[in-house]
Amino acid sequence: MRFQAPASVAFPVVALHNRATDTVDSAFIEEPMNELTLDSMLQEHRLFEPAQDFIHRARINAQRLTALQDKANTDHEGFWAEQARNELSWHTPFTRILDSSQAPHYRWFDDGVLNVSHNCLDRHLASRGDKTAIIFEGEQGDTRHISYRELHQQVCRFANALKAQGIGQGDRVILYMPMVPEAVIAMQACVRIGAIHSVVFGGFSAEALKDRIEDAGARMVITADGGHRGGKVIELKAATDLALSRSTLKVDKVIVLQRTGKAVGMQPGRDLWWHDAIRDQPDRCEPAWVGAEHPLFLLYTSGSTGKPKGIQHASAGYLLGAIITMRWVFDIRDDDIFWCTADVGWITGHSYVAYGPLACGATMLMYEGAPTVPDAGRFWAVCARHRATIFYTAPTAIRALMKFGDEIPARHDLSSLRLLGTVGEPINPEAWMWYHRVIGHERCPIVDTWWQTETGAIMIAPLPGAVATKPGSCTLPLPGIVADVVDQNGDTITEPDQGGFLVIKKPWPSMLRTVWGDEERYRKTYWGEFGGRYYLAGDSARRDADGYVWIMGRIDDVLNVSGHRLGTMEVESALVAHPRVAEAAVVGRPDEITGEAIFAYVVLKGPRPAGGIDKALTEELRRWVTSEIGAIARPSDIRYADNLPKTRSGKIMRRLLRAIARGEAITQDTSTLENEAILDQLQGKA
Ligand code: WTA
Repeated sequence: MRFQAPASVAFPVVALHNRATDTVDSAFIEEPMNELTLDSMLQEHRLFEPAQDFIHRARINAQRLTALQDKANTDHEGFWAEQARNELSWHTPFTRILDSSQAPHYRWFDDGVLNVSHNCLDRHLASRGDKTAIIFEGEQGDTRHISYRELHQQVCRFANALKAQGIGQGDRVILYMPMVPEAVIAMQACVRIGAIHSVVFGGFSAEALKDRIEDAGARMVITADGGHRGGKVIELKAATDLALSRSTLKVDKVIVLQRTGKAVGMQPGRDLWWHDAIRDQPDRCEPAWVGAEHPLFLLYTSGSTGKPKGIQHASAGYLLGAIITMRWVFDIRDDDIFWCTADVGWITGHSYVAYGPLACGATMLMYEGAPTVPDAGRFWAVCARHRATIFYTAPTAIRALMKFGDEIPARHDLSSLRLLGTVGEPINPEAWMWYHRVIGHERCPIVDTWWQTETGAIMIAPLPGAVATKPGSCTLPLPGIVADVVDQNGDTITEPDQGGFLVIKKPWPSMLRTVWGDEERYRKTYWGEFGGRYYLAGDSARRDADGYVWIMGRIDDVLNVSGHRLGTMEVESALVAHPRVAEAAVVGRPDEITGEAIFAYVVLKGPRPAGGIDKALTEELRRWVTSEIGAIARPSDIRYADNLPKTRSGKIMRRLLRAIARGEAITQDTSTLENEAILDQLQGKA
């Protein structure tokens, strides 16, 4: 099985990015583009119509979809205003819809006042107080059911605890937590009092945590004594201590949840236990009524530079995006048990764990651990045990579990499932078909959802009762989302299957508002092309003859490893920070399970190891990158060379390196290389 079957799709000849910006892909500028072909999936002709009984019960059928689209196309702003009035509970209703006067800093509904936590909790109390909000299952098998009333009380108590520790409106709070209900409680408590959370994925290293604490200017860190994953305890508090000992910024307080019972050091005056912080706190807390544009959270994501960017979202628009996509794409109903497997450290875990399901008054499942504990049937066992009806995960998980065969899922009763979803990377048709057949029993529609940290909510995806699906395509943009595939001039590509740039042509409510503390980077990265008219997603895509969108990959130096974004520069910076490394270049190569794997070329300060092999050093560099960034950034391959291949103007020839990493024939002109011998070294032949 190959993840992507190469089907050469010509890519426009273009030098897209200004060299000074952070989105430079040097190879794109320095090397001839007309030879460049991007991997894309084989032409896929299978079409899966929604089943009649699904259509009958669906919130949106084909006619409703057409009506929504007509409305959105004729009156874009009026359309969104109507959704915002219907879906959000306002403390003070808005009168202005979209303010473009400071574009590209768009503002939505900006004279409206509301609170996101109130929208997720309080408004359900009368009708659904006893309904289960969260079903939790820990890796070790412990389970909890939390009703809306209980969740509201716990959020209020923790919100009061935050206030008692001096946290107020606009303060940044870092969360570094395991996948337990308290992570959601902490997020909800922050937004309840108008504080801005920034969740750092528990798999990131102390170093990565430190960078985010400093960049956000955080006043508090909320963490745990640990979390269970893969049969081990992930020591979050120890990593927090290390991060804070290295940080130039001193936070006032660290709140520590007791999850594993593992002994941790507590620094007097700074650290306090969660259970002590909430003791004696009342279980009611008036929400902070904030403007629609009040910053809701920051979430750091990788770009083309070594420094992750803090994507900032705004309260009302973001929540509207999460709610509306829960309804349209997930067809959420009161009796659903919704399970999104994403960690709260990623945007998917924000929109479809911490906010979207709760804002819709749904019941959601949360699972703490690894999908392979105690065996590769854990996801299916959790689905069966808690009668999940909607299951949303990443292609990398599907591919990994598919490897274990059909027998394991067959041991579990998956009859409760009615809808499946994927996110994070293109899904190869083979994995799609397996998901459809073995998990969905050919009964459940699959929604392949394209979106980004920056977009806040799903943008391109099928509405399961209205749109026929094709394995590997995220299908059509949602109503009100004006997505297009354009050439280097910004003109729509009308010819089917011609690759181009994926852009969004009109602002949408859940869009990012800025990059925290880096205004310039916001403008350049997302609005730096096409005269600032369009939002540049950073992905290449094509549309087939039916107008279906097929995502082809990134156009910048961003890798997608297991559905997680990583900048090649980030990994390169980590490598050159090692005392023995002089230079490094990192590219992606296709991988069956993770989609892309990290392939690093390294030039050492001393001599190159004999034959290019030094197992101990290779292991040490892998460990080094893990401690600098996290395990997801660990290179799968490291090759040593005397120097890196460069163009006459000194740019690393990344396309050449990519071809080598993929084991492809070298078609690039290498006659300008000063040292042709390195070609053998790069290919691992010498
Ligand atoms: C990729 C995750 C193909 C894409 C929600 C995008 C996808 C990046 C899909 C964003 C999909 C996400 N098909 N590619 N359905 N969904 N991507 O910010 O390259 O972690 O730009 O957000 O993932 O990753 P992020």
